[in-house]
Amino acid sequence: MRRLLIYFLFGITGTVAVFFLFIWTGTLNPLHSSPNAHEKSAALPLGKAIYEAKCTTCHGDDGKGDGRAAALLNPKPRDFTSGMYKIRTTESGSIPTDEDLARAITNGLHGSAMPDWGPFLSGDSLKAIVAYIKSFSPRFEQEKPRVAHISAPVPSSPPSTADGKRVYAKLQCASCHGTDGKGTGATATELFDDWGDDIVAANLTEPWTFKGGSTARDIYLRFRTGMNGTPMPSYLGSASEKEMWDLANYVVSLARKPVWAMDAEALKTFYAAADAEAKKNPVQRGKYLVEAQCVGCHSGYSADGKVLPEFKLAGGLVFDLYPFGKFTSFNLTSDKETGLGNWTDEEIKRAITQGIQRDGSRLLPFPMPWTSIAQMPDDDVNAIIAYLRTVPPIHNKVPMPGKPNFFSYMWGKFEMLILKKQTPGYIYPMKDFTKEAE
Ligand code: HEC
Ligand code: HEC
Ligand code: HEC
Repeated sequence: MRRLLIYFLFGITGTVAVFFLFIWTGTLNPLHSSPNAHEKSAALPLGKAIYEAKCTTCHGDDGKGDGRAAALLNPKPRDFTSGMYKIRTTESGSIPTDEDLARAITNGLHGSAMPDWGPFLSGDSLKAIVAYIKSFSPRFEQEKPRVAHISAPVPSSPPSTADGKRVYAKLQCASCHGTDGKGTGATATELFDDWGDDIVAANLTEPWTFKGGSTARDIYLRFRTGMNGTPMPSYLGSASEKEMWDLANYVVSLARKPVWAMDAEALKTFYAAADAEAKKNPVQRGKYLVEAQCVGCHSGYSADGKVLPEFKLAGGLVFDLYPFGKFTSFNLTSDKETGLGNWTDEEIKRAITQGIQRDGSRLLPFPMPWTSIAQMPDDDVNAIIAYLRTVPPIHNKVPMPGKPNFFSYMWGKFEMLILKKQTPGYIYPMKDFTKEAE
């Protein structure tokens, strides 16, 4: 019964927390609220109307990629003022063609938050939105798209994929994508895009996550023309046309079966292999889990809502949740004085799975989601701790959780439950980390 109640509470607070994150990102972002209507808007009324109805939440009023949802997304929504696009049939660095933009909008960018708009936008409305997006960047007036010459495809065959495998080695795709396309043995593991956000090299065995499609032609185009704004380069001139088609055929051949196409037996084998892989390298597994689940709450942020690398995992995000109190996320780096450096593995485990602090006092079941971490397999919890041990120390003292004042707590509860008052909650950085980082 108590567990149920805790789940219930956490379910609600989780939803509420996400809602507040939206508010927070909105209020933090001075650009977002500026009413500056786009200059060319008068000429493009249909495109503007569609844009405002469907695209601003992510891409922002002024097309700068800073919509309300942007801070929560990785990769970030495209900044249309840059004129830089990933999915093109044009040479590296060139602006895309109208068809390229229409295709990206119709199909979406799989593996990112960019939806496929095909069911909603076609014909004139699709043309209008393409024209409107182009109007955000002067590049479309000053330049012409340099369309890439696409040679005749080499049909897939065992000799072609075998040759492709050699091209993969010759062009050193493995340095980012790993020897097996899954990242194994990759040397470049910390990659950033041109906007300074971290980015991961695609898993080449999961073609359903490719942003520009998964046919040999799509794949050929991606490494033939590169993905502008990302570390994924153009290989024009580094290999012959035949070699590039062989390589595309090889990448197609790397595809594994997606889990939704597996039967029960295959699923079991698949997850058993994934488990064994995780056990072999707990620190890598832990890094993945910490990046996905802890960094967002336990880091310092810049004013435009980006995690500051200098304060990554150093804590300092304040959850001001009246009437429960103010909770500041803890410093999870190995700093001995202000972080986890002096905690034992057992103490960390107890805190993140049972909500018991070092001094024995209890945490509420929110905002620190120890009730859901408690559901994780033991190996994963140990992996998280193993990775946290390797995080270099960052000195950043955060206040310990404050106990709510009993009277204001009871009054707040009364307001919430009896008077049905909406009590405001806020999430904001503890201090201006940007200044400190300089
Ligand atoms: C839910 C958030 C979201 C909404 C809504 C959204 N986008 Fe996107 N969009 C993204 C993200 C995220 C990216 C960047 C993906 C990446 O870089 O991998 C993106 C990228 C793009 C790109 C770049 C394609 C390329 O080749 O680089 C275009 C064009 C685009 N969006 C158009 C639109 C249009 C038009 C709308 C409205 C009809 C829209 N988006 C609505 C999230 C969104
Ligand atoms: C410097 C690192 C780097 C190298 C080298 C590199 N890639 Fe990539 N690759 C990336 C990154 C990063 C992405 C993800 C880009 C994104 O999601 O926006 C990517 C994405 C891809 C994709 C997915 C495209 C899509 O539509 O989403 C394919 C396919 C690919 N790479 C193939 C290759 C091949 C083949 C080679 C060798 C010729 C190669 N890459 C070399 C970093 C690299
Ligand atoms: C929704 C935001 C959020 C997420 C996600 C989150 N934490 Fe926390 N965490 C907090 C806050 C806030 C505190 C401060 C404790 C409090 O006041 O309740 C905290 C406290 C802690 C503490 C210190 C507890 C103590 O004894 O004082 C540890 C250790 C910790 N978190 C680890 C983690 C790890 C590891 C993860 C990822 C698996 C994680 N947290 C995910 C918000 C979060």
